Amino acid sequence: MKEHVLVIFTLVVHSVTSNLSHPNVLLIIVDDLRPVLGCYGDTLALTPNIDTLAHHGTIFTRAFAQQALCGPSRTSFLTSRRPDTTKLYDVHFYWRTHAGNFTTLPQYFKEHGYHTVSAGKIFHPGIVSNYSDDQPYSWSESAYHPPTQAHKQDPVCLGSDGALHTNIYCPIQVDQQPGGSLPDIETTEFATAWL
Ligand SMILES: *[C@@H]1O[C@H](CO)[C@@H](O)[C@H](O)[C@H]1NC(C)=O
Ligand SMILES: *[C@@H]1O[C@H](CO)[C@@H](O)[C@H](O)[C@H]1NC(C)=O
Ligand SMILES: *[C@@H]1O[C@H](CO)[C@@H](O)[C@H](O)[C@H]1NC(C)=O
Repeated sequence: MKEHVLVIFTLVVHSVTSNLSHPNVLLIIVDDLRPVLGCYGDTLALTPNIDTLAHHGTIFTRAFAQQALCGPSRTSFLTSRRPDTTKLYDVHFYWRTHAGNFTTLPQYFKEHGYHTVSAGKIFHPGIVSNYSDDQPYSWSESAYHPPTQAHKQDPVCLGSDGALHTNIYCPIQVDQQPGGSLPDIETTEFATAWL
């Protein structure tokens, strides 16, 4: 049985034509992932590709969540400001009107010669990013959201009672899922095709 538990969201920041002063940049953001990866010494997680990437790069061992919630944490690192400054400790505000008209990381790239593309959950959805993934500021085109995300509350998890239950974490058969895929797979396919 194919198991699917890791949630991966991808951000692609891409220059139209790469050159030495403007190299292409790929930023991969994983939702709510602790350092349970092989490259951080975890012996259970099977993460060979991330481990290989880490082997060729820099591993930060003193990085901390700014706020233990995805909306404020994302807003913090995407605007390079602490939650004390964004005044976002929960998921109820849009920083531009709530705290300040701060420039975001993709916005900075976009304003300096880059074509910026978002796939999956980069900004927190809803009011946190003004129901628009911070458009028109951050992205060169509308953010991609995987169609099967619409099924996230569907009962797809087989319980011991033989019935299907709602639960976002359970082993499933991908091809039996509504839409025949999963959001992470669709997001990855979109990002890969774009690259
Ligand atoms: C916020 O900043 C953007 C550029 O970063 C600018 O286009 C926009 O007009 C600003 N909005 C306000 C209300 O100052
Ligand atoms: C490098 O790419 C940027 C962004 O596309 C462009 O503005 C710049 O002129 C390029 N530089 C060279 C030396 O081609
Ligand atoms: C937020 O979205 C609304 C509705 O699209 C728009 O009128 C408003 O200008 C946006 N706020 C900012 C700060 O861009």
